[in-house]
Amino acid sequence: MNKSHTIRVGYYQFAPEFGCISKNRTEVMNYLENTDADIAVLPELPFTGYGFSNREELLSLAEDPDDSGAVSDLLALCVRRSIHIVTGFAERSGDKCFNSSLLLGPSGICGTYRKLHLFDREKLYFDPGNLPLKVIDIGGIRIGMMVCFDWIFPEVARTLAMQGADILCHPANLVLTYCQQTMLSRCIENMVYSVTANRTGCEKHSFGDLDFTGTSQIVAPGGVIIHRAGSRKSEAYSAEINIDRAREKTITKRNDVLADRRPEYYLR
Ligand code: ACM
Repeated sequence: MNKSHTIRVGYYQFAPEFGCISKNRTEVMNYLENTDADIAVLPELPFTGYGFSNREELLSLAEDPDDSGAVSDLLALCVRRSIHIVTGFAERSGDKCFNSSLLLGPSGICGTYRKLHLFDREKLYFDPGNLPLKVIDIGGIRIGMMVCFDWIFPEVARTLAMQGADILCHPANLVLTYCQQTMLSRCIENMVYSVTANRTGCEKHSFGDLDFTGTSQIVAPGGVIIHRAGSRKSEAYSAEINIDRAREKTITKRNDVLADRRPEYYLR
């Protein structure tokens, strides 16, 4: 990280086509070849699409990150362009499948997060995450990963903030409309940055249509929206942020949002 602690974060909002891994991979690679972001965040499940009919369909599309053409392309790009990428990923691990987020960089796979809170039909085919929330330090910048519906559980952002996260990287495939506003609160109560990379478009399935809400956003500590995308179109955006702002947790002379907690009185 440079001395002024500034860095560019970005996202790519687009409409993955269900089951078309190679087409989605090409679209993602085109974006990444051109982004000026140091850390680029992609949506949840950007290669497979979202709405699986059943476990068998998921098993046919999920991949082991160590044996995935998409991941090796992304890793090669990280080396070539000296960037980091946070991407959703349908992760196969033995006989399990997780709705995961990977942090990739020039040194390889820096971290894996497996979605802890599965949303609606995801419970029919994904395994719930089985790894603890963990902040990953990349050259002095501390990254916390969460996936989509994790937004409704304040414990997720708080746990990451308590571990020192500067930026919550948040791949999403949102179908409800509350998340974007709620993430402002997550950034106020924890004084962190967040990057929510949400998808757009509609997936038509035998079990019903899924309309995704777009409006990806980058939010600063204090809940200030740096940028929010539209709801329908593909959009790539990046912004420079100053990490020092996420290290300052005081909101008045006498209040620190983390140090003032009284956990001994909270529900255990
Ligand atoms: C969601 O968690 N994809 C809504």
